Amino acid sequence: MKGKGEGGKARGEEGFPLVKLVDVHKVYKLGEVEVHALRGVNLEVERGEFVAIVGPSGSGKSTLLNMIGAMDRPTKGQVFIEGQDITKMSDKERAKLRLEKIGFVFQQYHLIPWLPAIKSVEIPLMIAGVPPKERRKRAEALLHEVGLGDRMWHKPSELSGGEQQRVAIARALANEPEILLADEPTGNLDTKTGAEIVKLIRRLNEEKGVTCIIVTHDLEVAAAARRVLYLRDGRIVRGQPLAAKVGKEKALRPEEEGEGA
Ligand SMILES: Nc1ncnc2c1ncn2[C@@H]1O[C@H](COP(=O)(O)OP(=O)(O)OP(=O)(O)O)[C@@H](O)[C@H]1O
Ligand SMILES: [Mg+2]
Repeated sequence: MKGKGEGGKARGEEGFPLVKLVDVHKVYKLGEVEVHALRGVNLEVERGEFVAIVGPSGSGKSTLLNMIGAMDRPTKGQVFIEGQDITKMSDKERAKLRLEKIGFVFQQYHLIPWLPAIKSVEIPLMIAGVPPKERRKRAEALLHEVGLGDRMWHKPSELSGGEQQRVAIARALANEPEILLADEPTGNLDTKTGAEIVKLIRRLNEEKGVTCIIVTHDLEVAAAARRVLYLRDGRIVRGQPLAAKVGKEKALRPEEEGEGA
């Protein structure tokens, strides 16, 4: 993968941060009712970072992740990926960007029930136009990488939750994305399995230099991150670097207001 890891050069050749949000607002309109899900988020994430986003339910964590992942457009503000303003892109351009640069992992895995693991991982490769033989080779390598070398032909119903999430991670990595975005990836898993998934993501970050941004309720997951962003009412109220050093509790409690990211 293209990232350099936390020890390496943080900025890309172009000198831009990998992700940059400038005064991002999101207002959902439901009939007459307006919900201000994000209220002016400013954020920069460098290549190779491992960032956790925490905060109460409804604070805008998923909305923020969807903005970074070009899944949705802000009502106001700008989102830059490698210096490119994705809010100015057409839907087609954003789809291309998602395919090439972004891998998404969800709490519910979102695997297609009738497809064996290997086929799930091949789909994004197929969309990217990778020829069949190469596709198969890469999907096999990815499934080995996430520890599912002996489960490649199992369908989701024949896999445990943790195994399904591993397939989802392999699928997210298929096109060697710069950024792995995960929304509560351990939310459906027991503590031990969740910890294994976090370990896997952490390894992908350290060894492959994949930039990881993870939304979580889980203190253990947040503790694995180098930086914890605390979201409340659509604002980042505290950005805490090196969470592990200051202790989990402290890292997760916003102590001062303001744009801490
Ligand atoms: N598609 C939508 N239409 C209308 N309102 C929405 C939509 N998506 C989210 N919201 C609202 O925006 C706010 C932020 O939602 P979001 O899903 O980002 O929160 P969250 O921090 O991810 O919460 P949780 O921890 O429960 O997943 C909430 O008040 C929610 O009800
Ligand atoms: Mg959410």
